[in-house]
Amino acid sequence: MSTPWWKEAVVYQIYPRSFADGNGDGVGDLAGIIEKVPYIAGLGVDAIWLSPIFTSPMHDFGYDVADYCDIDPVFGTLDDMDTLVAACHAHGLRITLDWVPNHSSHQHAWFVDSRSSRDSAKRDWYVWRDPAADGGPPNNWRAEFGDMPAWTFDETTGQYYLHLFLPEQPDLNWYHPDVEAAMHDTLRFWLDRGIDGFRADVINLIGKDPALLDLPDGPGKPILTVDEPATHRMLRGIREVLDSYPHSPMMVGEVCLFQPGQVASYLGVGDELHLAFDFRAIFARWNASHFRRTIAAIQHDSLEDPEAGSWPTWVLSNHDQPRHRERYGSEARARAAAIISLTQRATPYLYAGEELGLPDAPIPPEAVVDPGGRDGCRAPIPWTADDGHGWGTPTWLPFVTDAATLAADQQEDDDTSMLSLYRRLLALRRSSTALRSGSQDLFDVGDDVVAWTRRDGDDELAIAVNFGASGVEVDLSGHVVEGSVRRDVPFDGQLAPDEAVILRR
Ligand code: NOJ
Repeated sequence: MSTPWWKEAVVYQIYPRSFADGNGDGVGDLAGIIEKVPYIAGLGVDAIWLSPIFTSPMHDFGYDVADYCDIDPVFGTLDDMDTLVAACHAHGLRITLDWVPNHSSHQHAWFVDSRSSRDSAKRDWYVWRDPAADGGPPNNWRAEFGDMPAWTFDETTGQYYLHLFLPEQPDLNWYHPDVEAAMHDTLRFWLDRGIDGFRADVINLIGKDPALLDLPDGPGKPILTVDEPATHRMLRGIREVLDSYPHSPMMVGEVCLFQPGQVASYLGVGDELHLAFDFRAIFARWNASHFRRTIAAIQHDSLEDPEAGSWPTWVLSNHDQPRHRERYGSEARARAAAIISLTQRATPYLYAGEELGLPDAPIPPEAVVDPGGRDGCRAPIPWTADDGHGWGTPTWLPFVTDAATLAADQQEDDDTSMLSLYRRLLALRRSSTALRSGSQDLFDVGDDVVAWTRRDGDDELAIAVNFGASGVEVDLSGHVVEGSVRRDVPFDGQLAPDEAVILRR
């Protein structure tokens, strides 16, 4: 059997509000993405993932879906989506969408019906419960946003409904067969239009404890670490839908779990998710032991059950966390991080803007729009150095401080820019089966340096990253093919602080 496309792909995440502004209203849209398809393809990535573009009142910027089968007017129309799919395919890019199965918007017709009466045919499509004896919420679960219970009381029908996120994001009841079937239909709707797959939002939450028991630790923390057996049955049902299409659609799931083996367990025996986000790298601090341990743990989990074809992901940035350029604090580290990401035995997910070395934007209190405090990493991409940076004004969020210097047009023809580094790394990965699919083995060259090989037959590379504060001499032989500072020069064994090199032996 040939290698599935998603195993050898690099996926580029686009946050549509912030990517490119086609109609000049200061908010990114599908027309903007269509214009940038040649840029994206030119980077050398294989697929894109669009954060939600479905109809939404935008309480959580699209993660509150009011219609799973239509495009929000802010972003465009279904015709625009068809155009984007065609443009991506014409440029050899696959396109995947963000599917939000755990909850809908409170404005979804299903919820409007469900909350209208206790006798509604859709009442049990959501999770309704009587108040506790004291009139309070039915259990001690807390919502992820807003420091509040995960339950909101509905005056009309005298019951509480469950929402693990905002009250505007009621949780769907995946134990109801009609919900499961209706959600399968939403997948088919997009697969029939040529979509190549999905990123499934907080997928480990869909099979939450049906008895809704109190959490033993008491109230106070949200329950994003749900890990119930029922979810695996639901995932097998979803997989059957995907597998019924001949174009090999792929689903990557957001699985917010951190114990050894937990993320990999959501791949089943090759019959659940194709891929699952492993966020352990996002939470590794910039030091050698954290990165060594993280790389080893992620690789170990994916090798546990080779029969199942378990394959890891690698993520350093997304729309929910401060960008890694911001977290690590320097351009040198961001360059080294690019080398780390693109030399892993994993499917790397890049977050649009990291190829420009974007930090987070400072957000003054009056500009805050996100209930989850994540505006900084969602700043618009600066395309040009001029005042508007390629956007209509005002933009929905401010730009990063150095937008004029970091703008794509400034980096375009500069061989030393971050953009050029990403292009070279992506080209290198494409040209090397060792990097795409070869083995990965850590080896020891001293405490401050993390080093690993990637091998496939004669194709062999060694990667070394100096996390230490001083330069070190490392015992490696070979030729530098990419480095954060020096490039295409014979390697003299010296690694500067925060420098990474790739040697081809
Ligand atoms: C995870 C998404 O990445 C995040 O942006 C969103 O707020 C929550 N899920 C709720 O859908």
